[in-house]
Amino acid sequence: MTLTLNSPCDMHLHLRDGAMLENVAPLSSAQFAAAVIMPNLLPPVCTTSEALDYQARIRAVCGESFLPLMSLFFGAHLTKDEIAAAKQAGIRLTKLYPQGVTTNSDKGVSAILCEQNLQIFEMLQDAGMILCIHSETNGFVLEREHSFLPIFVEIARNFPRLTIIMEHISDARSLKFVESFPNTFGTITLHHLLFTLDDLLGSALNPHLFCKPCVKLPRDMRALRRVAFSGNPKFCFGSDSAPHLRTHKECAQCGAGVFSAPVALPALAELFENHGALQSLSAFVCENAPRIYGFTPPQKVVRLRKARFDVAAEYGGVVSLFAGKSLSWILCD
Ligand code: NCD
Ligand code: ZN
Repeated sequence: MTLTLNSPCDMHLHLRDGAMLENVAPLSSAQFAAAVIMPNLLPPVCTTSEALDYQARIRAVCGESFLPLMSLFFGAHLTKDEIAAAKQAGIRLTKLYPQGVTTNSDKGVSAILCEQNLQIFEMLQDAGMILCIHSETNGFVLEREHSFLPIFVEIARNFPRLTIIMEHISDARSLKFVESFPNTFGTITLHHLLFTLDDLLGSALNPHLFCKPCVKLPRDMRALRRVAFSGNPKFCFGSDSAPHLRTHKECAQCGAGVFSAPVALPALAELFENHGALQSLSAFVCENAPRIYGFTPPQKVVRLRKARFDVAAEYGGVVSLFAGKSLSWILCD
């Protein structure tokens, strides 16, 4: 049995830089035609010229058959000229991180709805840019996404022509807000479809499942599954695959991030198949994103076959989801 996917896209991906980029990027470019590349490097990718340099380094590793959709770290540097330069260079995404809520977000925004940011939202809207938001406050950990909703709604209402993406939705209560505005959409990860707090810390603590936003309750996972399994056009796949070295995960002060790149499509195929939803996988990973973001991915036919996939224990010092376990779908060569 085989499964054919036309130009699958990963709309939320961390590739890092240097040796880590070389280690992880080929795992994604083997499976996806395009991916949104997150800008939270140290220092962050803020300007068009930095993003173009970073894109060239990604292309040097992945080749031309993989489209890295670059994003600019949101901040005061997004002047009218900078936004115009981005558009000119084909960069249409900016990623807003509330300050300090996740890995490498120290340079994020502290007062999201301040006058200066409202002016930037206006300029982004006028330029036809897309605003991707890490939608969490730094309140109580299980309520962080929910307590961000008033801010999300305020931006969505006041900038109705600005396309806004709620990244890595984790809380069932977010879904109806994303669905209720014509200009709001969401990405959903593999790990939020697969795991709950029980998997993270119900028996032994599993640092490899620690991420922001954290995995939540069974009802949240079920609600996310419902929208993904129905191919709901407001939502698409964004893995949020975020590599950290094993030594930075299996320690105190473990870094936040789940590394899922090596298993993304095989694990999605297995999950969708187990729930009788294989017919919706293409909407979730191929069709919805190009429509939401308004882009055409390169033509890339990706085939999976029903065969045992033994997931490596480590990929260059990084531990993947399902490390040392096996999945029932494998990427065809
Ligand atoms: C991401 C990372 O490591 O860069 N970590 C995470 O837990 N998801 C950043 C992010 O997307 O929040
Ligand atoms: Zn992320």
